[in-house]
Amino acid sequence: MLRSIGLTQTHMECRNLNDSVPVMTDLLAFEKVGERPGEATLKHPNTAWLLTVHEAPDAPAKQMHNHWGVRVATTAEVDAAYEYLTANKEKYNIDQIGKPSYSHGSYSVYFIEPGTNGWEIECYAEALRKDVWKTRVGGVRAPHWDEPMPASRFPGRGYVPQGFTHGTLATGNLKRAWEFFEKALGLEVHQANDHVVYVKHSNTKPYIVCATRNDWRAFSPNFRFTITLESKDAVDEAYRRFASSGQELGVTDLREPTSG
Ligand SMILES: [Fe+2]
Repeated sequence: MLRSIGLTQTHMECRNLNDSVPVMTDLLAFEKVGERPGEATLKHPNTAWLLTVHEAPDAPAKQMHNHWGVRVATTAEVDAAYEYLTANKEKYNIDQIGKPSYSHGSYSVYFIEPGTNGWEIECYAEALRKDVWKTRVGGVRAPHWDEPMPASRFPGRGYVPQGFTHGTLATGNLKRAWEFFEKALGLEVHQANDHVVYVKHSNTKPYIVCATRNDWRAFSPNFRFTITLESKDAVDEAYRRFASSGQELGVTDLREPTSG
């Protein structure tokens, strides 16, 4: 089992950074913290999790079950976000915005940014009226921030994304994936229902919603999550271990360690 420091980064692909990055900075409160040809790294001010966006002009369209989520503190902010997104959809080239609705305990608005990625702006205020949700399923529904970000950091929209909370993975075999996350990667797995688990690292708040999808297919390597280990040697050791026993764990694609 890996001994890791945290779930530290997630990666997505878009068709054009110039179209997608403004959606994330202007509508979701991310800040650009790094840039290289063909990629930009973003960070939400209240969340340690990094988001790297890779430019892939031929990126295929994806279904909404491929999405990432930010969280606001109140349901009124979800409604305000829907209004703001709708009023600005031409400017940001957004052509799919769902009406806010309740599902899996959250009140959320979903939309697809022009680079193929789904986004959710969620609120768990209603679920958290019941104290039990502060700790159930790994506490993922409890606030992810210690201090709320003031509206002055993200003025003029009527809503403030307070944290970058989750990404998603689809699987054709939830039981096998669950075993892999726990036994091979050393991550926590919390069952949400028969078809969905939440995967997280015990040190870090962001989580991955892993759901059974019968039409599952692999995305490009641009789509991935990063677990940080304590040293380069630990990465080399993890590679050796997966090279020798990865097949029985269900690993289908293993790449040699690289730096950079
Ligand atoms: Fe979600």
